Amino acid sequence: MSSRYLEVYGAWQADPHAFWAQAAREIDWIRPPQKIFDPDGGVYGHWFPDATCNTCYNALDRHVDGGRADQPGLIYDSPLADSKRIYTYAQLRDEVAALAAVMQDMGIVKGDRVIVYMPMIAEAVMAMLACARIGAVHSVVFGGFAAKELATRINDATPRLILTASCGIEPGRIVKYKPLLDQAIELAAAKPEKVLLLQRPQEIAQMIEGRDYDWASLMQAAKEAGKAAPCVELAATDPLYILYTSGTTGIPKGVVRDNGGHMVALKWTMKNLYGIEPGEAFWAASDVGWVVGHSYIVYAPLLHGATTIVYEGKPIGTPDAGAFWRMIDEYKIAALFTAPTAFRAIRKEDPEAKHLARYDVSSLRTLFLAGERADPATVEWAETILGVPVIDHWWQTETGWGIVGNPVGLGLLPVKHGSPTVPMPGYDVRIVDEAANPVEDGRMGSIVVKLPLPPGCLPTLWQNDERMRESYLSEFPGYYKTADAGYRDADGYLYIMGRTDDIINVAGHRLSTGGMEEVLASHPNVAECAVIGMKDALKGEAPLGFVVLKAGVDRDPAEIEKEIVALVRDKIGPVAAFKTAVVVDRLPKTRSGKILRGTMKKIADHDEWTAPATIDDPMILDEIGRALGRKGI
Ligand code: COA
Ligand code: AMP
Repeated sequence: MSSRYLEVYGAWQADPHAFWAQAAREIDWIRPPQKIFDPDGGVYGHWFPDATCNTCYNALDRHVDGGRADQPGLIYDSPLADSKRIYTYAQLRDEVAALAAVMQDMGIVKGDRVIVYMPMIAEAVMAMLACARIGAVHSVVFGGFAAKELATRINDATPRLILTASCGIEPGRIVKYKPLLDQAIELAAAKPEKVLLLQRPQEIAQMIEGRDYDWASLMQAAKEAGKAAPCVELAATDPLYILYTSGTTGIPKGVVRDNGGHMVALKWTMKNLYGIEPGEAFWAASDVGWVVGHSYIVYAPLLHGATTIVYEGKPIGTPDAGAFWRMIDEYKIAALFTAPTAFRAIRKEDPEAKHLARYDVSSLRTLFLAGERADPATVEWAETILGVPVIDHWWQTETGWGIVGNPVGLGLLPVKHGSPTVPMPGYDVRIVDEAANPVEDGRMGSIVVKLPLPPGCLPTLWQNDERMRESYLSEFPGYYKTADAGYRDADGYLYIMGRTDDIINVAGHRLSTGGMEEVLASHPNVAECAVIGMKDALKGEAPLGFVVLKAGVDRDPAEIEKEIVALVRDKIGPVAAFKTAVVVDRLPKTRSGKILRGTMKKIADHDEWTAPATIDDPMILDEIGRALGRKGI
């Protein structure tokens, strides 16, 4: 089949408003949009400014009423808890409506913020949808963050309620959420009034009288009383959620998502980008704490009437490297979406894919990869063992859906390893130099997107239009700065090569080295520090910290290095995967005092390097090399 991509992208270019008006017909609105785009609303404009709708209605009730009541809507599968559960659309709607009623009884109304701090269980999805049902704005915080990170998000979002569970489960350990939550609330200046906690059998948490409420008993009471919250009418431009993501400073950015544009964009992608039909099973093996989880575990598959999967496990070790194949076989999954790091992990453990022989994975039509650069070796391996197209696509928390991809539903374009293919309709992607001039094909530059961003992308940062403008819109006027660098080839394929800021990508998780440096600098013995992302065969990148000790500190450097590793785990969380700190005598700097992180990275990666002409003292680079040699790097 030849691809309709050029025709469809051309139609969008010719008349973007007509394109999105057509896509909007796939949504059940309460008041359908008369106006498609208002260029004067918000920071760069608003999509569907006069429409009203409810996202939860479109994700659940619409399908229950439209003939999918008995179809599985959500499958929960947990090798870690040894538990499985299938919810039909009708069951899921009833659970969500009851939970929304419980929240209303707790005083939550439209516009209130609710933090969801939960592991990968079905109730996390229910929590998000219950918020959407009553117009509360959810903010999900990933379970691998430490109390301080949670506190920062509580302070920014000022939630009235926190929905949580007693624990998460990681291989070999129970992650007790409640002590982390209590500590975060203690640290936060903004105190939430109430906590609704789901006790899991693996860990029974201590409750605080008057503040903490038991999820199971309130749900039971609500169901017995026949309570079910109806869907609230919301403006399409009302916020659906806030999702915090790493910025260049330690303070995360509160990416806002609206209701209307988000539904329109995600619904469009399910058929056209992912090639999925309603009724099929779609599995995003990510976490609800990340944007991939928000868009492709929760909202998009449900808006489309597909079956979504919540998997509480890992690609390896739960119990083995055949875990993904077992899932595909058991639930007849049509498309799998994960990060390349998951496939690197499987390949490392089972290079000949011997586990595959035990399962029937013939339902799988496509593997989608995103979250970090998909290295060609991993893509080739996945293609060979699975025998299906392996599609890399590029996107960000900010955009909420793919900027560049290979639209399987419109007809597959030839796959080029190393490239996520071409811009999706809605995105006019340009490669520019520092003065915002276009660069020629094949040359690296900053990747920017011409404004306005399409529906589904962030309208702003939570209560911070100024930071939105400063972070994304001011450097290249008229464009959104992606902070990724890359190039375009002569066929129009894009290549995304890395960030232009201090963000690194560790196992598909986005982390700020600036944020880690703040933690290192807080150690009482540290005078100066630098954190870089060093190449890692499994996780893509791994953080590596260099510290210079204060004059007069006479302690064993190995002890201090250990304390620093523990400090990052304590302040940011295990997800930072910060395992290596190196004490050095001095940091290499330019004559104007700028730390040469780029050169240090090349040394750590064993890439070729030369001392920059502006370096203050080239000897320091040799010292860095020797210090890394001592650590076996
Ligand atoms: N709650 C608490 N801790 C968590 C956590 C959670 N939800 N998720 C991860 N962690 C912990 C891990 O247990 C690990 O702790 P450790 O240092 O004690 O071992 C640490 O955070 C680092 O986690 P991670 O980087 O994920 O490494 P891992 O060794 O646990 O697993 C992979 C490696 C490749 C198997 C894993 O990263 C993976 O499956 N990644 C898929 C990528 C993904 O989901 N990306 C999201 C965007 S698409
Ligand atoms: P996040 O906001 O966590 O989704 O991370 C977004 C960042 O991850 C992007 O800015 C890129 O740097 C990187 N990224 C995501 N997907 C890809 C991809 N397919 N190829 C290269 N980099 C990617």
